Order: sequence, then structure tokens, then C-alpha cells
Amino acid sequence: MNSPVETASLDYSVGDLLVRSEAHVGIVTMNRPEKLNAMGRDFWRDLREVLARLEGDAGTRVIMITGAGDKAFSAGGDIASFAELKALEDKRRFQMDAMRTFAAVEDTTLPVIAAVNGWALGGGCELTLACDFVVASDKAVFGMPESALGLVPGFGVLRAPSVVGRQMTKLMVMAGERLSAREALEAGLVQRVVPHERLMDDALELAHKVAANSPYAHAVGKRLINRGVDRAEFDYSVEALTVLQSTEDTAEGVRAFLEKRRPQFRSRSS
Ligand code: COA
Repeated sequence: MNSPVETASLDYSVGDLLVRSEAHVGIVTMNRPEKLNAMGRDFWRDLREVLARLEGDAGTRVIMITGAGDKAFSAGGDIASFAELKALEDKRRFQMDAMRTFAAVEDTTLPVIAAVNGWALGGGCELTLACDFVVASDKAVFGMPESALGLVPGFGVLRAPSVVGRQMTKLMVMAGERLSAREALEAGLVQRVVPHERLMDDALELAHKVAANSPYAHAVGKRLINRGVDRAEFDYSVEALTVLQSTEDTAEGVRAFLEKRRPQFRSRSS
């Protein structure tokens, strides 16, 4: 696939996020391909900053989010950085940070399109759930494998049921079931699947089509469609995840990932 990153036309970067504008479309590229665009500690704050900057730019009418390289949209939260979250308050702050960012994607008045070029796992999959719609390469794979780390996707468990249904959400969350682009299309997680090499062209074509319509209508339409979206559960999810992230199972899950082995979780009674 053509890399979406063309440094020649780069407008600016914020941390690992590259931003460039094409006509009225602000293209945000998660740029950490050597770690499959895993979301580091600053990612959440950085994405909020980028969203605010694009919203503040009168010329931007649509935001598109994609991943650098040929393999991943994003493989999710940076698991290595989880090990650095020692104090309970650090874990809580991390969970809140992530939730605030998903909320910012939902709240920006600009339409946000995910152009998914590969793995969309964990936070990467959750990010697509926060976007307004999703265009996927036929090589994209979606999943929420956090249970292998002794965790659950705090935003995904709230949003995925209304997108793919409760039982499919449970299959993804409990079995770590991955969905191909086609399966994700059938499940409603993806709105369009395109050949891998055409992803950026086709996603941009769609973005330009959206950008040609009234930004005011988009802002109002998005708010009305999202009105039924529940925010009250965010606090509960943050607290539940803060506790979960403090368990020995999560510590073992993170250790196992870093040591490239299967985790050994304790039985419920131990
Ligand atoms: N956090 C931190 N680092 C990650 C990462 C993540 N979520 N996902 C991948 N990476 C890193 C790997 O550790 C590896 O780094 P290294 O080369 O320094 O060892 C690099 O990215 C490439 O990943 P690798 O696992 O070697 O690629 P793969 O093709 O064999 O497997 C995945 C791809 C996506 C299946 C696998 O990387 C994976 O399971 N990632 C974790 C997904 C996840 O659990 N996400 C939820 C996090 S809450």
C-alpha cells in the first residue's frame, strides 16, 4: 500500500501523530509503525490536541485517522507502558485519559473517518468505534484482545454492543475473537471494505464527498445521532478498569506479552 505519510506535505506533528491537510480533509496518521502504532502514554493527550487544532481550523471539514506503514492502524494501548503504571492514581489517570480522548472523537463537530490499513486491536479497534464511520482495507483485522492481558476494553465494552450487538461484543472481548474486514463489515463495525492498495484513495474520495456538504448540517446531524450515546457509564468503566488493572492477572498478562509467552492466569479461587 502507498504509505499515507508524505513528509513533504506534512503540516505538523504532535508526538507520534502526523497531520497533513488535503483540501478540506485533515489527515491524522498514527506514526509508530515499528510498534504497530501502539498508543503510548502521551497519545491520548496528543490526539485531543490535534482534534482541537483541526476543529479550530476553519478550512478543515473532515478528519481522517489512519496508521503509518503497511501493517497496522493501531495494535492498541502500549502494553509496555502499562507496566510503568504503578500507583492506583496513575492507572485511574490513564483510564480517564483514554476515555476523554474517545469522547473527544465523538464530540468533535467534524465528521471523523477511520481509514483502517491493518491491525485495529484493543484501543485501535475502540478508536474506530468512536469514529463516525470506518473504511477498511481488505487486509484489516479487528479485535479487542485485552482479556489476554487480564483487562477489558473500557470504551469498547460500552460502545461495541450498539454497533455489533452484545453477543458479538462478548465473543470479541471474552474469546479475543478477531474479525476480518469482511466479517467486520457484516457485523456493522465497518461501512466499506476496499482493496488494500486503494485504501487512502477511496477513503479520501469519501472524505471529500462528505466535505462537500454543509459543515453545520454535519455538526448538528452528528450531535443528534450521538445523542443516545451514554456517557454516564464512563466513570463506572474508568473505576472498574482501574481496579482490574491492579490485579495480579493483569500484571501477569503484561509480563507474558513482554516475554512473548502465553499468560498463566490464576483460577478464581486462588
Ligand atoms: N503495545 C506495545 N507494543 C506492541 C503492541 C502493543 N499493543 N503491539 C505490538 N507491539 C510491538 C511488539 O512488542 C513488537 O515489538 P518488538 O519488535 O520490539 O518486539 C512490535 O510491535 C511488532 O509486533 P509483533 O508482535 O512482533 O508483530 P506480530 O505480527 O507477530 O503480531 C499482533 C502482531 C498485533 C498480533 C501482536 O503484536 C499483538 O498481539 N499485539 C498486542 C495487541 C493487543 O493486545 N492490544 C491490546 C492492548 S491493550
